Amino acid sequence: MEAFAAALVALVTIACSAAESPSAPCAICPPGAVGPAGHAAEGISAGIYPGMQPDPLANGLGVSSCGTVSCHGGPKAGNHDVQSFAFTIWMNDDPHSRAYEVLHEPRSQRMARLLGLGEAHRARECLACHSMQNESRGPLPPEVLADGVGCGSCHGDSTQWQQIHYLPDWKRLSIAEREALGYRDLGSVTTRVNNCIPCHVGDASQEVNHDLIAAGHPRLSFEFAAYQRLWPRHWTPSGKVESQPDFTARSWALGQAATLEAVAKLLEVRAERATADLAAERPHRWPEFAEFDCYACHKALGPRSYTAAHAGGFQNPFPGQPSWQPWYVSASRLLDVAAATTTVPGTRAVGASAVDIRRVLEPDWSVTDKERLDRVLLEARGLARAARQATRELESRDRIVLDVSHDRLDALVADAPPEWRFWDAAVQTLLVMEAAGGGPARIGVWRSDQRQAATADTRQALEELRDSLRFPPGADSPQGFSPVRFNRDRVAVPLPEAVRP
Ligand code: HEC
Ligand code: HEC
Ligand code: HEC
Ligand code: HEC
Repeated sequence: MEAFAAALVALVTIACSAAESPSAPCAICPPGAVGPAGHAAEGISAGIYPGMQPDPLANGLGVSSCGTVSCHGGPKAGNHDVQSFAFTIWMNDDPHSRAYEVLHEPRSQRMARLLGLGEAHRARECLACHSMQNESRGPLPPEVLADGVGCGSCHGDSTQWQQIHYLPDWKRLSIAEREALGYRDLGSVTTRVNNCIPCHVGDASQEVNHDLIAAGHPRLSFEFAAYQRLWPRHWTPSGKVESQPDFTARSWALGQAATLEAVAKLLEVRAERATADLAAERPHRWPEFAEFDCYACHKALGPRSYTAAHAGGFQNPFPGQPSWQPWYVSASRLLDVAAATTTVPGTRAVGASAVDIRRVLEPDWSVTDKERLDRVLLEARGLARAARQATRELESRDRIVLDVSHDRLDALVADAPPEWRFWDAAVQTLLVMEAAGGGPARIGVWRSDQRQAATADTRQALEELRDSLRFPPGADSPQGFSPVRFNRDRVAVPLPEAVRP
């Protein structure tokens, strides 16, 4: 134990003495602090929230230790080495740098008050995704919390690698050796998306459930390729997954597979909790409303009501039964069809597994008993398995091609028409067309030959289709959305040659 403590002090000392020049302020230590004593004495020692002691190992998480001008905080103008201004991009353009700040806004404070969490910027329930504070770490000092979703949220705690990652030796370390030092490899689509998932989908230790949503939190609906595109890139794409010819298709397919696995696991966690609570005769939380179609319960009144616009007059073909996760069910069906995922004998396809969950969850959806929960658990594990299998199979392909030809999509819709009545399903369809067909999803693509794959006509048509899916001004639901019209407009999008099989 003592040896460990000594090693720790040595590490912190190295970190502090490594400022650019002896007279320069240390990027990690609070002002005026010298060495490890400073770390312990100032700022950091103030408890973040009651009952917790700061974790000295957390020093490598602060972005200020990465963002010095000579490291990643250089100027953008006239600079071609993106690495040298990664911090500058994050600071100015990346929404993650404001993730903690939003917890101070009145809407966050209101949310936390309604939920009885005290102050949002101190609540574990919010910090988990809006800062680098999560359950895997001891309490972080306030200045690190203030960084929001900082470098360490994705690249890992740099306490043990910050001082060596720019040395030639670093390049010789294997991924496993780097990861042993706390560095997180984000070099593949799968490692990237798995890094986003805990915050953008949720997991056992952090989630956006209906309580948070009803208190004012935006609903989470994640599609990795689209989010990656929306997110300002702070690295040079050459030599990275961006330079693979199938980058966008790969991001879409592997992103959906990993996301579906996470969605299944979250359902499993929720069902397990309810099972345990039932057994212990504690109040249980089931069904979790966030698992279901929002608009099944929330209907705008008036002739332009979202539900009234549906052929048949209702959102769900079985009135009174909210549908399970239309956003993700449609993703699973599109994954099977567009990426033609194959299954090994004895396993189910991802789409079929998601439909199995619907069959169990939707009838008598509010009934809670052990037998039902057991069936939900079984099906949730089935979907997680199917999604994992899809990931493996997709990863083994040299090149992923998405086939979203109109014939295939028409057949998919004809196969289960009610599933395609949802606005969620229409948006997912648009996103896969963008990923496959050279819409804006390809803007992040590095190679110019791919950027030109889409004709101006296709781009324009996809843009119009996207516009048709926007909520009307002032509305908080897709009022006036018509699946029939969407499918008609979809078929009118001219597909570039590259998309055809
Ligand atoms: C499971 C992770 C998670 C948890 C827990 C969480 N959030 Fe969020 N929050 C997100 C994500 C992801 C977004 C961005 C959603 C998007 O745009 O897709 C977000 C967005 C927000 C926004 C809107 C920000 C904007 O710029 O529009 C607010 C406000 C917010 N969260 C507050 C809170 C508060 C307050 C809590 C605690 C009660 C909380 N969040 C808990 C993940 C989380
Ligand atoms: C939301 C996640 C996320 C955050 C936050 C983030 N990064 Fe990154 N960063 C990535 C991903 C993904 C890559 C691409 C990695 C790859 O393909 O190997 C990357 C790449 C980089 C690279 C290029 C690495 C290389 O091997 O070429 C640098 C440098 C970098 N980030 C620095 C930073 C710094 C500094 C911060 C904080 C100011 C930061 N990043 C914050 C996700 C993130
Ligand atoms: C530690 C949690 C965390 C991780 C990891 C994370 N995010 Fe986020 N992300 C957030 C939060 C919180 C917000 C909302 C920030 C705000 O608006 O204040 C957000 C916002 C975003 C937004 C803006 C969404 C919008 O509505 O405009 C994009 C895009 C995004 N994240 C992409 C990604 C991608 C891609 C990854 C993985 C490479 C990732 N994020 C990893 C927490 C996270
Ligand atoms: C099974 C029915 C049901 C489903 C499904 C459902 N909700 Fe709710 N929602 C309710 C009820 C009942 C309330 C009021 C009680 C409460 O606040 O929890 C409510 C409250 C809300 C509120 C607060 C409204 C207000 O005026 O205060 C919001 C916002 C909300 N839900 C959004 C959503 C979103 C977004 C989804 C989909 C992810 C969703 N709901 C799914 C039944 C549902």
